[in-house]
Formats: sequence, C-alpha cells, structure tokens
Amino acid sequence: ELPKQVTIYEVGPRDGLQNESVIVPLEVKAEFIDRLVAAGLPIVEATSFVHPKWVPQLADAAELVARLQLDGPVPLPVLVPNERGLDRALEAGCTHIAIFGSATETFAQKNLNSTLDDQFAMFGPVVVRAREAGLDVRAYVSMCFGDPWEGDVPIDQVVTAGKRLLDLGASQLSLGDTIGVGTAAQVGALIDAFGESGVGVQSLAMHFHDTYGQALANAYAALCHGITTFDASAGGLGGCPYAESATGNLATEDLVWMLNGLGIEHGVDLEALVATSVWMGQQLGKEPASAVVRALG
Ligand code: HMG
Ligand code: MG
Repeated sequence: ELPKQVTIYEVGPRDGLQNESVIVPLEVKAEFIDRLVAAGLPIVEATSFVHPKWVPQLADAAELVARLQLDGPVPLPVLVPNERGLDRALEAGCTHIAIFGSATETFAQKNLNSTLDDQFAMFGPVVVRAREAGLDVRAYVSMCFGDPWEGDVPIDQVVTAGKRLLDLGASQLSLGDTIGVGTAAQVGALIDAFGESGVGVQSLAMHFHDTYGQALANAYAALCHGITTFDASAGGLGGCPYAESATGNLATEDLVWMLNGLGIEHGVDLEALVATSVWMGQQLGKEPASAVVRALG
C-alpha cells in the first residue's frame, strides 16, 4: 500500500543552481526561494556554506540567507561540509543544516578533498556542535547507485557509509543517485538493505538525478517501498559540479504530477510551481528540463 502523504524536499536553489556557471543575481535567488515557499513546498534547501572557490555560484550564501525568513514555518536548510561552514551558518542564523558524505573514495576526494574515512572526522564535530546549538541536521550520502570513476558501488559500502553519517546524529539520511544511473530494482534493494541493517524508511529520503531518465520511475519504486520524503528540484534544474555527467534532479513538477495521479497528498500548488520554473528558466536563459513544465508552462 502506498503512503497517503509525502514530503517534497525542494533542492532547486541549492542543487539546482550550484552547477550554473553564470552567477545568478542575489535578488533572483531570493525571489526563487520565496516563490517556492509560496507554492507550498514544505522545506526548501537554500544554499551552501561551502568554500566559495569550490562553488562560486553559492559564494553569496550569507547575503542570501540574510534575506530569508529563517523563523517562518518552512525550514530553509543549508549545506555545511565542515566546522568553518558551520560557523558561517550559525552566524547567519540558520536552523537546519545538511552534511554531505560520499559512499565512494574517489568522490570523497573530488567533492570534499578528503578520504572516505576522513570525511566522518570532518563531519563529527559539525553535527555535535550543530545539535548543541539546537539545529536540525540532515545527512546526504552520494554515489549510492554508481560512481563515474569507480563504476558500480556495492550496497554494503553504501549502507556502511550511510549508517556512519546517521550515527553521527543526523535526523534523516538522503540517499543520492548523484549521477542518475540507478534503476528501480536497485532502489528497492538499497532500501531493503538499510532496513535489514536497522535503518527504517522513516529515517530515509531519496535524492534522484535524472541523467538517464530514471528519476521518476525510481521515485515510484521508492514510494512502493514506503519512502515518504523525496528530494526534487523545480523545473529539473541541477547537477553536481564535482561529478562528471551529473544532470538535473528529479523535477518537482514531474513528481507532483505523479503524486496527484496517485492521490497522494503533498501540499504543493502545481500551477504556482510551474510558473516559478518558467520564470526561473527565463532568468537562466534555459528551457526547463521538466516534461511537466514544458507541457503546462
Ligand atoms: P579544502 O580546500 O580542503 O579546505 O576544501 P581546507 O579545510 O583545507 O581550508 C582551506 C581554506 O578554505 C581555509 O582558508 C579555510 O578557512 C577555507 P585559509 O586559511 O586558506 O584562508 N574554508 C572555507 N571557507 C568558507 N567556507 C567553508 C570553508 N572551509 C574551508 N566551508 C571543502 C574542503 C570541504 C571546504 C571543499 O572541498 C568544499 O567546499 N567542497 C564542497 C563541494 C560542494 O559543494 N559540492 C556540491 C555539493 S554535494 C552534491 O551536490 C551532492 C548532493 O546533491 C547529493 C547527491 O546528489 O548525491 C548533496
Ligand atoms: Mg544532488
């Protein structure tokens, strides 16, 4: 039986924009977030307190966050890789952060300039200090279904890395198909493997990229396995600058269209969301990747 209600965790302003090479004006980023909140998204990841040289698009994180309503009903999490990032997020008044680990050695090095093992030592004090300060901490694990340098990633390796991140004290683990190579049967197998290791669906979110056109099918597979939190990006924006061949996330509109058809509650106003993605596409000078946006926009 499918869940009656799901939470859509919007990542457009962060995952969507981080890969855009032309710097988006601060005003546009703030309006994008405001419009996503107004469209009913229950949580919107706003930006990243990473090294500005590593992700120049998000170098304005502090200025952007200063423009947002951090004490409103919609949490606006930010990515934080290390204690320096946490200091910046705390100074900005953030209440929700997300750490982001890798399931593979190569991606830990490419994305975090760290070894697979050392990343946990980097995140440990971040989570402890964030929790002491009363912040909510989400954890991502990347390369759950395949890695551009290492190929297939063994399920055990993903479960081990994911559990280590959760055990640091995160409230939720988001399983990332960073390069969008996963398929439906793998999704079910990974969720089952986490379940067997004691991590139930209530602690998991799924984070699909649509590189191979599998994101929506994978979301459906996850739904059938009881997952109730789905990461998605308005218009299908996105990609990771440190992962070759990664394209946009599962488009929020495509997910909403499917959920509407299934009668599953999500609280998002599709019309307002499509209008937002059409507007954002104009700002970026890009046709939205989402099929639903192209059909309705
Ligand atoms: P590093 O160069 O090894 O950093 O980068 P370091 O610790 O050696 O420090 C070097 C200098 O950077 C120091 O300054 C630090 O203060 C400064 P100096 O003393 O030389 O003047 N520094 C910082 N400045 C501002 N903010 C910071 C920060 N940290 C250090 N946070 C680091 C290591 C982790 C910082 C770097 O590798 C980094 O920023 N990586 C982030 C990459 C990234 O954002 N990738 C995209 C997000 S992940 C993703 O998209 C996947 C996901 O969507 C899920 C999925 O799809 O699978 C989440
Ligand atoms: Mg991603």
